[in-house]
Amino acid sequence: EAAIPFHGERQSGLTAPQFPTTRLLAFDVPPVSTTADRTALRDLLAAWTRLLSGTAAGSPPDPRLRGDAGPPRFAALVGLGPALAARLELAVPAGLTEPPAFPGDRLDPARGGGDLLLQLSADDQWTPSVLAELATTAARSAGAALRWSQSGFLPRTEPDVTPRNLFGFKDGTANPDEEAARQWVWGPPGPHEHATVLVYRRIRMDTAAFAALPEEQQNAAMGRRIGDGAPLTGAAEHDEPDLYAKHPDGAYVIPATAHVRLTGPRLDGGARMLRRGYSYDDAPDDRGLLFVAFMRDTAQFTRVQSRLADRDALNPFLAHTASAVAYVLPGAPEGTVLGEHLFS
Ligand code: HEM
Repeated sequence: EAAIPFHGERQSGLTAPQFPTTRLLAFDVPPVSTTADRTALRDLLAAWTRLLSGTAAGSPPDPRLRGDAGPPRFAALVGLGPALAARLELAVPAGLTEPPAFPGDRLDPARGGGDLLLQLSADDQWTPSVLAELATTAARSAGAALRWSQSGFLPRTEPDVTPRNLFGFKDGTANPDEEAARQWVWGPPGPHEHATVLVYRRIRMDTAAFAALPEEQQNAAMGRRIGDGAPLTGAAEHDEPDLYAKHPDGAYVIPATAHVRLTGPRLDGGARMLRRGYSYDDAPDDRGLLFVAFMRDTAQFTRVQSRLADRDALNPFLAHTASAVAYVLPGAPEGTVLGEHLFS
């Protein structure tokens, strides 16, 4: 299979199809001085660029990355947290803000937040694991410390088949096309045109309790059918949900508390986010969804999550246990280094 180039207008972690395994890492940059911290960040982004681009191009700095099944295929994503950006006075988009606290949140600060975010995805855990080790060593040399790390996975599917989450539903169906993404996911023309904002939520799911519901109730909670992912008002996965359709008794076919109704762009002036979530399994009673979504402005997440926290039919089965946001840097075209535009 073809290598995934590291260099490009956009980072590979957003443009490559979703790989079956992922690892997210977050680092803190303890303050020294603005000047010293800016230099350290610049050096670290250069070191990560060398590590990731060299490995992707088939000349890794470590023999464990030579790959017995050909050069490593992986996708990478690097982002900066809002506190670091503010402290170092970096020109990040105004839409990079921390979401507020939501009712029902049970956030563990040790599993969320962070000044630097790195996501590594591949066919298996080998390449992300070794790259994470090397990236962490480079971060330490620049004075940054690992804050949290989280791994996730997807079921194996044929290409272009939407993967399922641990409730059993296809997840990622209603993602924006390129035209909608230009308006709602990527920045406006200018320095952030190929940048975006990542919102991460670690959401524990009571999968056993949900699986014990009759299938009708599972479908009603989602507003889609668990089997084929089609909306309750449609016949096929990609049919547009009809939020206005009613049963003869006057009740909505897609119920008022259905996840698909509360999250859809119709309620939100057309706003869309690009979801590239993963499942996680850290213990039998700690499994769920790594909600990973990309958007121009954190406010998009906040609007949707406010509605969900209020009345999503999935709520009895969910607990948000961690949160992070990051400015996802534009890609580094050939011959350039990630984040250079921030320092010129
Ligand atoms: C749609 C599952 C949390 C935003 C969906 C769909 C499923 C799903 C199965 C329908 C298929 C699809 O379009 O992908 C879940 C589960 C969650 C969760 C299991 C928690 C564990 C969230 C959160 C947000 C969110 C926290 C944002 C605040 C959306 C959006 C859509 C969607 C924007 C697409 C709606 C549309 O355009 O029709 N989700 N979701 N979801 N979800 Fe979630």
